Amino acid sequence: MNQDALKKAVAEAALAHVERGEILGVGTGSTANFFIDALAGIRDDIPGAVASSQATADRLKRIGIEVVELNSVGSISVYVDGADEINSALEMIKGGGAALTREKIVAAVARKFVCICDASKQVQQLGRFPLPVEVIPMARSYVARELVRLGGSPVYREGVVTDNGNVILDVWNLNIAVPRQMEERINNIVGVVTNGLFALRPADVLLVGTADGVKTLKRS
Ligand code: 5RP
Repeated sequence: MNQDALKKAVAEAALAHVERGEILGVGTGSTANFFIDALAGIRDDIPGAVASSQATADRLKRIGIEVVELNSVGSISVYVDGADEINSALEMIKGGGAALTREKIVAAVARKFVCICDASKQVQQLGRFPLPVEVIPMARSYVARELVRLGGSPVYREGVVTDNGNVILDVWNLNIAVPRQMEERINNIVGVVTNGLFALRPADVLLVGTADGVKTLKRS
């Protein structure tokens, strides 16, 4: 099976976690796109969805699912999204698609976070994938210097502006031994909107696509 077939398989398996009749949260990226395609088959059971990016909102609308503002909903039953890396505690690095801030907000509201990915995203320690950090544009150089003080090597993602009008620094070489600590430390730098570590709010369930089929892991 190629990587796309694995992504499609986990996306379809995620349908079993969708609570019919409830507002759903939908993530961003190629795996999330397979999930949106799969949602088309049950769209009549979904009263609305909160999107973690403009791209996801556009795709949901195209298949006939109403996109609702987060401020107009009291709760989200389930949030389904991919990841760039995930460890055995279901802590993740996300933001390869620059949607990390909205993803983190939707994940915070959701009662359950279901991560969908192929086996290549599973790691022992987070950090080989460069950690995306969303930054207020005027603070870019200052934040970059602070990230160097933390041991990282930040690289400005040229030409990318987030849905929130900000910029992204991708940080290489960070030693993320304690993800929750690193998440808090980076978020405390003035000018950082948020960073792509999802350790304070990890996934609750991981559906991972392998050559032997879709495996389910639950956070203990
Ligand atoms: C976007 C994300 C994505 O979930 C992450 O980049 C994984 O993407 P893909 O499913 O395309 O591998 O965090 O900001």
